[in-house]
Amino acid sequence: MAKGKLQPPRGTRDFFPEDLRLRQWFFEHCRAVAHQFAFEEVDAPIVEHAELFTRKAGEEIVEQLYHFEIHGRHLALRPELTPSIARMVMSRAGALRFPLRWFAIGQNWRYERMTRGRKREHYQWNAEIIGAAEVSAEAELMAAIFSVFGRLGLPPGSVKLRVNSRALLEETLLAGILRKRPEIFAPLCVIVDKLSKIGTDAVAQLLSDPAGPVGIAASDARDVVDLLSVQDLEAAVKNAPADSPSARDLGRLFALLDAYEISEHVVFDASVVRGLAYYTGVVFEAFDAAGTLRAVCGGGRYDRLFETLGGKSMPAVGFGFGDVVIQELLADHGLLPELSRPLDAIVFAMEDALRPEAIRWARQLRGTGQAVEIVLDPARLKRVYADADRAGARRVYLIGPDELERGVARVRDLQTGDERDEKLPD
Ligand code: HAM
Repeated sequence: MAKGKLQPPRGTRDFFPEDLRLRQWFFEHCRAVAHQFAFEEVDAPIVEHAELFTRKAGEEIVEQLYHFEIHGRHLALRPELTPSIARMVMSRAGALRFPLRWFAIGQNWRYERMTRGRKREHYQWNAEIIGAAEVSAEAELMAAIFSVFGRLGLPPGSVKLRVNSRALLEETLLAGILRKRPEIFAPLCVIVDKLSKIGTDAVAQLLSDPAGPVGIAASDARDVVDLLSVQDLEAAVKNAPADSPSARDLGRLFALLDAYEISEHVVFDASVVRGLAYYTGVVFEAFDAAGTLRAVCGGGRYDRLFETLGGKSMPAVGFGFGDVVIQELLADHGLLPELSRPLDAIVFAMEDALRPEAIRWARQLRGTGQAVEIVLDPARLKRVYADADRAGARRVYLIGPDELERGVARVRDLQTGDERDEKLPD
């Protein structure tokens, strides 16, 4: 293989043991929180029917799909987990207890333009509450997210959750600019989501591009952009029709967040609309307070996805929390742990004839739950100690003819250098 080809494809990662330890450390925290919040874990194939993901609203995620034809089938690597989870729910809908709480941890593939915090594959913790229509579900999910931030050691205030409601924006626009064209709301959101990347002028231009999917008047496009700059819920509610149900929902959501004691870290931000077309209600994204990184996680309510996929209508809300941005944030805070290899003992038979005795020791120690290596090839004792040190082993068990006769092993503690005889544990 050519030397350049020893690197994985651009935007993808190898996970060497130390990298994998870190990834698992992070997801074990997610898993622990998911269990505390009574979510059940599910999994689905990475390869799905491409049509599960090919929506027509012009979303980036669809353009970035890794897809292929094989034996006449059009398949794709999943770019996200939500459609697969929806598909699983639909396949068993009659037999499930709702509202259900499911979570999944898996790899997603998107052919992204690479920037800091964006790769072409990433792992995501996804949590979904399906079958609950009230914002109490959103509040639970947000509380779970903050629980993970706390477990990872992030100081309170270092991450802000920005919340908006697509429904509020929709109600506001349908009462005015989009009165005659309600169907362009989803593509409008896809364009508006680019705001932080390309700025207000470019968004207004895309919205008013006559050849684009939205094509509203330039003055209307400006009005939309102005609506997005609102960062105060009361002002946003004033722009919406009177008695707006989504304004009421947002008010209730903030009241619930008080009870979870996280409301001081959650702010209203009308510019958060999210880039996926399926969202219908509350949407949210978490950002580092310094504002230097991309969204750490994001989600929202998607009450119409099930219908879009050909199923019965079903209220649903969830989020995805990736492994890439959070690592950058933890590194910035000096919070990435040094996770050493778990290696409790190395067992060494000083002569080949003593190997069965070394195996007996290794089996017994492994039986007590310890991580144990046996020295496989003949070696000099000095090399064994040096190598055990390098591997980070805690103890070396030495079995020589004398030890065999006395029914013991000579144990060296590599941290203290102490040596003692030990009897084979029961
Ligand atoms: P998303 O915003 O596309 O939402 O992704 C969620 C999170 O996954 C992001 O905030 C980020 O942490 C991570 N992520 C996404 N793309 C990349 C990438 N290219 N490189 C590194 N990390 C990335 C969804 O995927 C929705 N399915 C979330 C959801 C679940 N909504 C409802 N339920």
